[in-house]
Order: sequence, then C-alpha cells, then structure tokens
Amino acid sequence: MDYQQFFSQRAKQLHGSLGRQTSVPIPGLINLGSGTPDFLPPQFVFDAMQKALSEGKIQYTAWTGIPELRAAIVEKLKTENNIQATVDEIVVTSGAQEALMVTLMALLDAGDEVLTPSPNYDEYTRDASILGATLVPVPTTIETNFTITAAALEAAITPKTRALIVVTPNNPTGTVLPEQTLRDIAELAQRRNLLVISDEIYEYYTFDGHKHVSMASLPGMKERTITINSFSKSFAMTGMRLGYIVAPTPLVEAMLPFHHAMMICANVVTQYGGLAVLSQPRDWFKTQLAEYDRRRRLWLQTLDAIPLPYSEPQGAYYVFIDIRPTGLTSAQFVARAREEARLVFQPGTIGGGAGEGFIRGALTKGSPEFEEGLERFATFVRGLL
Ligand SMILES: Cc1ncc(COP(=O)(O)O)c(C=O)c1O
Repeated sequence: MDYQQFFSQRAKQLHGSLGRQTSVPIPGLINLGSGTPDFLPPQFVFDAMQKALSEGKIQYTAWTGIPELRAAIVEKLKTENNIQATVDEIVVTSGAQEALMVTLMALLDAGDEVLTPSPNYDEYTRDASILGATLVPVPTTIETNFTITAAALEAAITPKTRALIVVTPNNPTGTVLPEQTLRDIAELAQRRNLLVISDEIYEYYTFDGHKHVSMASLPGMKERTITINSFSKSFAMTGMRLGYIVAPTPLVEAMLPFHHAMMICANVVTQYGGLAVLSQPRDWFKTQLAEYDRRRRLWLQTLDAIPLPYSEPQGAYYVFIDIRPTGLTSAQFVARAREEARLVFQPGTIGGGAGEGFIRGALTKGSPEFEEGLERFATFVRGLL
C-alpha cells in the first residue's frame, strides 16, 4: 500500500527529516558525539520516584504540574537565575522539547518567522515548519566563536518576525553568550517589541570562567521572555522527560491548551524525581562538571596535536570541530568516520547550513572508550590530511 497518499502535507514535508535510529548496538562503535550525559543523578532521586510509585501516585497531576515542584522551581529561579517568578508563571512539561513546541504553538501562525543564531539545535527548524512558520537562521562563524550580535539579528527582522530564540550555552557550538551580548539582544527585543524564547537547558555546563546569565534576569526582560529549561542535561534525566516553561501568566494561559492536547500533564513519577533533585543541595554536580572538563581538555589536546581547528568550547558538553582541512564535507566526514574508524559524530549541518565543514563531538563518553575513541579519531584524521 502507498501510505504516502494518506500523509498530511506536514508529514510529507518532514518525512525522513530525523534520519533512522539504529536499534541494535553495533559492536566496537564509539559514539563521540552523543547528546546524552553518561552519569546518573544521585540515589535520592531514584528513591523519591520509587516512593511516589509505592504510594500509588500514578494519576494525572494538575496540567501545570504538582504545586511542590512548581514552588521548588520558583525557588531555584530566584537563587540560581536571579528571576523572580510566581508559581502561576511555571508550567511543568515533558522536557524542553515539549516546552518549545507548546511555546511556538502559542506564538506562531503559518507564515510567521522566528529568528535564531545558527548553527542551532535542529528541532527548532522542525517545530517551526510543523506550524507552517519559518525558523530564520542567522549565521554565525568560527571567527567570532559562533557568537551572535544583536545587529546581525536585527538585520534579519522582517514584518513577519514574532520572536527570537536564544540558546546559551549553545548546542552544537558550545558558545556561551557574554552578558553584554544578551543585554544588546534584550535592548533589541524591547525596541522592536519582540518576545525572546530563552533555551537554558545547558545552564550548568560552563567552563573556563564563562558564566551563564538568564535573559529574564535582565532589566525589562522578564515580561517578554519565555524561559525554557529541563532536567535532562543538568541532572542527567533525559529519558525522564521533565522540563518547564517560565513565562508571564497570559502567555502561560495561551500555552495550556496545547500542553493539554499533547500531554495533559508531565509524568507524575518523574515530577517527584525533579522535586527531589531541586530540594537538595547540588554540590554533587561539581564532580560531574569536573569530569566533563577533564574530557574537554583531552579533546582539545587531541585536536591541538593533530592539529585540527575548533571553536572554543565554553559551555554545554560539545566540541565543534572544524574538519575543513580534511577536504571532506560534514556528511562525508561523519560517514567515513563511522565506516573507517567506527566512530559516531553529528554533522555540523544538522544545525543548519552555517555548520557545514564542522562536526559535533561531545564530552559524554566515559573512560576507557573515550580515550580509545580519541586515539582512533586522531589516527583517522591524520590519514586524511
Ligand atoms: C538546545 C536544546 N534544547 C532542547 C533540547 C531538548 O531537551 P529535553 O530532553 O529537555 O526535551 C535539547 C536536547 O538535546 C537541546 O540540545
């Protein structure tokens, strides 16, 4: 049967855009580009989820999430992000992914545009296109370490522009936007009356003294910022599917029908896990961050020794590697690395055309596979140069 005949136009347009997931692990293959942290959250997170289960807490929660978790998020925003929010401004979601989609559903009509610095997280492009809207990528380059300027964003504004998506630290480039850049973008958003969607899911991963600043903490920005965050990366809970939106109440109300249509509420058991992790000190994360920094340094030593250029990884857990000296395109490099060195990377182009000539490496693989992967990488690249 030709099932395509039944597809919606949207389905036809997105068909195949995710590629294929391999369900069978391939022996010897080392994934040096994965976006999934390799550590576990502390035992008390598991205990809290098991307790919730054993107490039979398995029914729907309020659409916006359990009140205790929303209150804990409010407290976290106050102490860590300098954002003064109320519980009514929080919606607990099934990860940042749902939070992004719900946000864009509430803001974009067909034909509308949303701007983001590129290379960017690929899902933004798909989300906008599902809505018949367009994600307009504003290219950044390695010369400025993939940092955007407010002037470049402003030049891309058209009468159809509805919002800006800012993600810092960035996936895939590892760029942390300096506070002054965020202030410039804030000034632009206020002057041109735009909303800012601030994706902060890598906020805990910053290196070399780079600091994460939340857009909503800047003067005049809380009322026009939708902050998106998640437990996936900071607390290594990717499969738990837990995230949240922080937005002014009228925007929250506009988003709720979409959240309800897709999820009704976030998973109740993981909400208790999220509550546990926010209720305890987060000192344990320092050990994880130190290990990721060790891996980051090893990556950079390897690249310097080959030598192969890269963009300075300031945050998130990625290394954006310039493979242009090999003469291969991103796609060719990724395919050959898999075939010839049994290594997995993401092509830089997954985040748009500005990533051509780059691949995304990551800090998420532990020893000894990590070190072995780096050795294989160095040998493979030397053979190409
Ligand atoms: C920038 C960015 N935003 C959002 C997400 C989605 O995260 P979540 O697991 O919370 O849905 C990811 C996942 O990799 C990401 O890199």
